[in-house]
This record gives sequence, C-alpha cells and structure tokens, in this order.
Amino acid sequence: MYNEKIMDAFSNPKNVGEIENADGCGTVGNEKCGDIMQITLKIENDIIVDAKFKTFGCAAAIATSSTATDMIKGMTIEQALKVTNKQVIEVLGGLPAQKIHCSVLAEEAIKKAIEDYLAKKNA
Ligand code: FES
Repeated sequence: MYNEKIMDAFSNPKNVGEIENADGCGTVGNEKCGDIMQITLKIENDIIVDAKFKTFGCAAAIATSSTATDMIKGMTIEQALKVTNKQVIEVLGGLPAQKIHCSVLAEEAIKKAIEDYLAKKNA
C-alpha cells in the first residue's frame, strides 16, 4: 500500500518529540479519524531553526510529518505557511487516496504553531 520512501520515513522518522520552551506550538485533530498531531517550533528572527512532531496518527501521518518538519527547517515563517500537504506528498512520491487526509495534519499543525508564535510575538 505504501511506497518505499513512505516506509522509510515511517520506519526512521525524523524530528520526533517536543521542543522544550518552543516558540510556537500547534495541536490539531483529524476530523476523519480522530488522530492528533502536535508540532513545536524553534524560531529565530522569523526563521524556523528546529521543528519536532508528536502524533497518535498512522504510518502516513508519521511519514508526512517527518518530511514536512524537515522541509520547513531553514524556511522563513512566510515560506513555511505556504507548504502544503500536496507538496509533502510529492516529495514522498505519492500516497494512497484514502490516506491523503492523514497528510493534512502536519500542514495544519505547522500553520497553528506559526500562528501561536505570531500571537506570542505580538502580545
Ligand atoms: Fe488518522 Fe492516518 S488514519 S492520521
């Protein structure tokens, strides 16, 4: 059901865990399956210097979050806000149609974590 790239990202996920004293934290739930995703970010001068995720989601959620958190490291927050689940799926070489909803978790949690950062910054 999953291609090799996805199986590799799932078996050896990067960026698993939680950043202490994170500058931004986003937690989202998936309407379709009820699974949860948390992303924490370390941000310096509006550039994402570190990103980690924790999830109760499935293999597709783990693989896409591993890839998405890797992609946004080094990006400005503006660039990271534009990263979509479709781009992440492309990097992974495709995802079964019934698993597309799992990849939305990372995109939404990244957006929420950046919103959290901006809210704290402007407080
Ligand atoms: Fe819930 Fe994949 S089935 S994240």
